[in-house]
Amino acid sequence: MPVFKLNFNKKILLLFHKVILLYHKNSMVPVIFIPDLGIPLAMVFIKHGIQNKSYGELNMKLEDIKKITVLGSGVMGHGIAQGFAMGGYPVILYDIDEAVLSVAHSHIKESLDLFYESGIYSLDETVSMLAGITTTTDLKAAVEDSDFVIEVIPEILSLKQTVLQQVESCCRKETIIASNTSHLKVSDVFAVLKDQTRVVGAHYFNPPQICPTVEVVKGRHTSDQTLQTTYDLMKKIGKDPVKLHKDVVGLVVNRLQTALLREAFYLHEQGVISAVDIDKAVKGSLGFRAASIGPMTMVDMGGLDAWLDCCEKLLPIMDASVKAPTALKDLVDAGHTGIKSGKGFYEYAKDFSQKGLDEAVKKRDREFLGRLKRNFLSPKR
Ligand SMILES: NC(=O)c1ccc[n+]([C@@H]2O[C@H](COP(=O)([O-])OP(=O)(O)OC[C@H]3O[C@@H](n4cnc5c(N)ncnc54)[C@H](O)[C@@H]3O)[C@@H](O)[C@H]2O)c1
Repeated sequence: MPVFKLNFNKKILLLFHKVILLYHKNSMVPVIFIPDLGIPLAMVFIKHGIQNKSYGELNMKLEDIKKITVLGSGVMGHGIAQGFAMGGYPVILYDIDEAVLSVAHSHIKESLDLFYESGIYSLDETVSMLAGITTTTDLKAAVEDSDFVIEVIPEILSLKQTVLQQVESCCRKETIIASNTSHLKVSDVFAVLKDQTRVVGAHYFNPPQICPTVEVVKGRHTSDQTLQTTYDLMKKIGKDPVKLHKDVVGLVVNRLQTALLREAFYLHEQGVISAVDIDKAVKGSLGFRAASIGPMTMVDMGGLDAWLDCCEKLLPIMDASVKAPTALKDLVDAGHTGIKSGKGFYEYAKDFSQKGLDEAVKKRDREFLGRLKRNFLSPKR
């Protein structure tokens, strides 16, 4: 706590018993509030930045970030680690199990091979990127020297909080700690930490080493500097980040996607259209346009009056259910969870094994890389 030089006259001494410690929520700044001098004194302390030096003012800037740690090497974690390595950072990839890390390492190598095959990186570049990623099962060693730590572990609040508390106790005071949570509130994930000014949401999209968007999310206590540095870091590694100034459950893209899926499931359930034709229609219309212009630009180009008319006519008759779609639930209850089970909205060959899934992922990633190269990468890269 800061020490203030106060003029201890008689009046203040008499009021001493009334002294209250205020905790300024956004800046985590402890201030002294003396009722008779009133709020103005407290405000002056806050305004002039009299802060507890442990928190807040040590926030990292982009140039301070030299080393990255990724916690969790599953579906998202290994791709996120690869993305930082492609951006030129030394990366430590942590998981609880050596075997999982070994699989993650192979996935990263295979993905880098695809970047090479697509002409984005030379063989030498991919070799040094892979060499820039070290793996460990030692959490303390993983985070103690790191400047930016991102957790990519399962979406279980208590698990994330337990691991993040351990991280906070092992890492430096200024290290930025990020979460890739999809459906939890960023502020809830970090609620157990002592310093919540240097925490932030950094939500990627699968495959994270390819998809350009990252939602950079301000938690309840995230400092502006932490938000900005994370945004700058994402730009530096070639991402196309967006800032979310409020911490909303589901963030933005998942909410937009779920709105679309609710209507897609509904129309399919009503027998209006087959699953195959929903995919075809979206790819050739919404998806085709969205690859070049976003929905807000589209509305401006089409005319707001036309879209107002559309909203007035369609919204009252569209699905407004707040429950998960029955058809989806029935499929899941029957064990039909998609490619991994051999059946979802499509049927897959009986021998469609892990190998088949890996091939499907590779085919998808080749297509994505083609689009990434055309739409997002500068020619020199
Ligand atoms: N899968 C997606 O498409 C996707 C997209 C965006 C965000 N996310 C979010 O990313 C996070 C991870 O999702 P995922 O799909 O990669 O999960 P996953 O299950 O594939 O990977 C999680 C990894 O965390 C490891 N792990 C488990 N406990 C751990 C611990 N205590 N410490 C460190 N590592 C531990 C597991 O061994 C595993 O390798 C979740 O919060 C999820 O919501 C997922």
